Amino acid sequence: MDRHATHGAAEPRPAPLVEAEAPRWDAFDPDAYVRQNYLELHPADAAILRAGSDHLCRHFRRHGLPAPLTGIDVGSGANLYPTLMLLPWCKEITLLDFAETNVTWLRDTVHRETSYGANWDAFWDVLRRRSPYARIADPRGQLRGSTRIEQGDVFELPTDRWDVGTMFFTAESITPSVAVFREAVRCFVRSLLPGAPFAAAFMAESRSCYYVGRERYPSCDVDEHTVGSAFGPYAEGLRVRRFRQGHALRDGYEGMILACGRRQATR
Ligand SMILES: C[S@@+](CC[C@H](N)C(=O)[O-])C[C@H]1O[C@@H](n2cnc3c(N)ncnc32)[C@H](O)[C@@H]1O
Repeated sequence: MDRHATHGAAEPRPAPLVEAEAPRWDAFDPDAYVRQNYLELHPADAAILRAGSDHLCRHFRRHGLPAPLTGIDVGSGANLYPTLMLLPWCKEITLLDFAETNVTWLRDTVHRETSYGANWDAFWDVLRRRSPYARIADPRGQLRGSTRIEQGDVFELPTDRWDVGTMFFTAESITPSVAVFREAVRCFVRSLLPGAPFAAAFMAESRSCYYVGRERYPSCDVDEHTVGSAFGPYAEGLRVRRFRQGHALRDGYEGMILACGRRQATR
């Protein structure tokens, strides 16, 4: 299957992955992924939570308190913290992922009565120190009430649709190709409305693959320059930073990169 077949015609289309290299997204194990990455809050994630939420707070302070917005988190997988970052401003947040296993995990976790596990409280604790997060008394209830979970493809996102967006460890973690990475970034930014703020995170200088449990997935080597130039044509107010705190969760990468900005107001 060529998942990139629906790319916009305006730009050259990157070559699809060859069949032999095609990742088995239907074998993605969300429980193993959480065990590997999110059972505890690691310092780099805490730094990204602070920097990403700072960006959103500053943006919405400057633009006044907007009417409840629609948000999207692209490639949510089994990570709830980008969505928690969006919570104060959104009446509806779409959690979009390609893998059915992740979509099921998200539904079972976010929409069940007891909601998410206690490991995510440490992530919320970083956010809830400041307004407007502090005003949310029941993050589990608010998450359950405001999220819609969808199986979908970053390369098929509609354009001009959402008021705010996040995309964490996705564009560089689905392909070994920098051209495909750039296309995923383009599709993400263009799914937002002009002027919409975003926060997007990337593993820096990854080797060409990573493991979730025993399953191997492709990744591509990006640094601040690659990230900046991928967002550059579509974004304004862009700030790209690398966080190196903490031990390596995945072997073979050099910290995490956060890109914050707004979709370009003029098309
Ligand atoms: C490394 S995981 C990142 C998960 C999570 N966002 C995080 O911060 O840890 C990459 C995610 O991208 C999803 N994915 C793979 N191909 C995709 C596509 N074409 N569109 C949207 N999501 C995709 C995978 O299912 C997986 O959940």
